Amino acid sequence: MLRRVEYQQSDRGEIPQYATGVVEQDWAAYTDTDHHVWQQLYKRQSEILPGLACQEFLDGLDELKLGADQIPKFSETNAILQAKTGWQLIAVEGLLPDLSFFEHLAARRFPVTWWIRKPHQIDYISEPDLFHDFFGHVPLLANPVFGDYLQAYGEGGVKAAGLDALGFLARLYWYTVEFGLIQTSQGLRIYGAGILSSKGECLYSLQSKAPNRIGFDLLRVMRTRYRIDSYQQSYFVIDTFQQLFDATAPDFTQYYKCLHSLSTLTPREIEAADQLIQRGSGEGWATDGDV
Ligand code: PHE
Ligand code: FE
Repeated sequence: MLRRVEYQQSDRGEIPQYATGVVEQDWAAYTDTDHHVWQQLYKRQSEILPGLACQEFLDGLDELKLGADQIPKFSETNAILQAKTGWQLIAVEGLLPDLSFFEHLAARRFPVTWWIRKPHQIDYISEPDLFHDFFGHVPLLANPVFGDYLQAYGEGGVKAAGLDALGFLARLYWYTVEFGLIQTSQGLRIYGAGILSSKGECLYSLQSKAPNRIGFDLLRVMRTRYRIDSYQQSYFVIDTFQQLFDATAPDFTQYYKCLHSLSTLTPREIEAADQLIQRGSGEGWATDGDV
C-alpha cells in the first residue's frame, strides 16, 4: 500500500478511510468488470516493464504466476510465497493504522487491499487498491533480501512509534518501497511499487529530464519531504537491495536524535553532499504542498 496518502475525499465513497482489520478476499464476489480492470492494467504494465523494472521484480512476477486475465487469488499466491520467502498476503479494506501495519510487516504479513479500482480510475486513483498493492508490491516479496528489508522496516516502525520518529520512517518507505530506483549494469531500473503500478510514472521516473536522481543516503532520505499529488521531484537510487538492508541495519535511535535537530529538505533541493546522478530541469514542479 501507499502510506501516508492523506486524501480528503475517498474515491470509493462507502468505505471509511481507516477501516481496520483483516478480512477474507471474497474472490467469487469480483465482477467481470473487476477482472477486466485487472486484465487491462496487467497487460499495459507488463508490456512496458521489460527494460524499465529491475530484474528482481520481473523474476518475482514470473515466479508468482499472477494471471493476466483474472484477479489473482491470495491463497494461491500465498502457497508460492510461503515456499520462497515465508511472506503471506492478508486482505484488508484499505489503509491500516500505522502500528498494525508495522506489526504485520514485522511478522511477514503484507496487507493487500482486496478492492480494485473502477474503469474510470484506470489511469489514476488517489488511494491504494488491489492493483497497486498486488502488482506493485507483491512480486518483490519473493526476493529474499528485499523481503528481509521489509520485515526489518516493520520491526523498526514498532520501535519508532515510541520515539516520535514515524515521520522519518514514512519518508524512507516513500523513497524506497514506493518510489525507489536501482542502478544496474544495464542502466537505471525501477523497484518502487508506486512507480511500477503507474504507466505514466514508469516512463517519467526513468526518462524525463525534470526530476533529480540522487544516490541513496539514509539520513538524507529521512530528511526529505515528498509529494503525494504528483510524480516525484527527486528519486533516490540504490545500487543493490543488500545496500539498502545494510544501511538500515543499525539501531536508528541515534539517527533519530540527530534528525530531530536537523532541518527538513524540500522534495526539490539538492545538497552539497549529494551524489547526483542527474540534476532535474525542474520543469513542471509545484513548490507548495509538500508533505
Ligand atoms: N534498524 C532500524 C532501527 O533500529 C530498523 C529499520 C530497518 C528501519 C529497516 C527501517 C528499515 O530502528
Ligand atoms: Fe504502496
